[in-house]
Amino acid sequence: MRPLHGRWVYHGGEFVPFSEVHLPPTTQGLHYGTGVFEGIRAYATRDGAQTHLFRVHDHYRRFLRSCRLLRIDPGLTADELADVTAELLRRNGDRGDVYVRPLAYKLGLLPGTPPGVGLGGVSDAVTIVASRLGDYGPPGGVRCLISSWRRPGRATLPVQAKVTGGYVNNALAVEDARAAGYDDAILLNEAGQVAEASTANVFAVRGGRLATPPADADILPGITRDTVLTLAAGLGMPAEESPLHPADLLLADEVFLTGTGIGVTPVIEINGRPVGAGAPGPSTTRLAQLYGRLVRAEREDTHGWLTPVETGSDEQALAEEAVAKA
Ligand SMILES: Cc1ncc(COP(=O)(O)O)c(C=O)c1O
Repeated sequence: MRPLHGRWVYHGGEFVPFSEVHLPPTTQGLHYGTGVFEGIRAYATRDGAQTHLFRVHDHYRRFLRSCRLLRIDPGLTADELADVTAELLRRNGDRGDVYVRPLAYKLGLLPGTPPGVGLGGVSDAVTIVASRLGDYGPPGGVRCLISSWRRPGRATLPVQAKVTGGYVNNALAVEDARAAGYDDAILLNEAGQVAEASTANVFAVRGGRLATPPADADILPGITRDTVLTLAAGLGMPAEESPLHPADLLLADEVFLTGTGIGVTPVIEINGRPVGAGAPGPSTTRLAQLYGRLVRAEREDTHGWLTPVETGSDEQALAEEAVAKA
């Protein structure tokens, strides 16, 4: 991710230079993890002529569901948030690939609210940052460690929502995996079934059939996961949502991860054992290529998943204004 200095940020209902965003140390979301977020990507077409946000409305619908759970009122609809995001990219003069991070959080105690942890009687805030980000993740695939940290059950934490505090679990798991020389962690749920990777859903392929843990396996039901299931259906590739055990991953022909950040990424090794042939397999490669073509508008957008970002003639001037103000 490139530095945000000199870029516009949407904060407190307006577009401001990044350097003007200051959060008080009393911000409740910092203390108690009472915030929600999204990760959204915009992709440039290969000729660089056009940029599209991918499934931005679906991301904001999930964002609003997460907000509702935490009693946060962002004051904007999903369509309005999508418009604000497109305007943010326009102001920043973004023509290349961009990663958008909307964050809604509990800010400060309203008069009469006693200090302490809680949701009611606390003001809300929304901040959206966007930074240039190209493809990331090792192109040849990732190596994963099955974590000793379990993903909490939804009776403990609402894991279907993207709640900031819950990501302590993901951070601990990925830290251990990296310390052991792996790229990412795969977490099991409290029943010992495969849940997901640190910020991605997991698919296994066996005999050309796809399988991915169901929503009730305490996963975050990813938008990329849904995209891949839709693409697979279009290809006539059999796919099912069914519980997976760690051994199913070790016995699979192919395993891959799906997420907004990493797209469709092959897993080539788990716990020191090669997955299948230890190289990206044919189903993964096909789906990854298809996904790449879809997000870069090289396929017909039959689902209305691409939102063009209109870059007006004044975007360069606006970008320079942000730098000047920074
Ligand atoms: C815990 C977790 N699981 C799965 C995903 C994948 O979700 P999506 O495809 O919507 O990005 C993410 C990323 O948002 C995540 O943070």
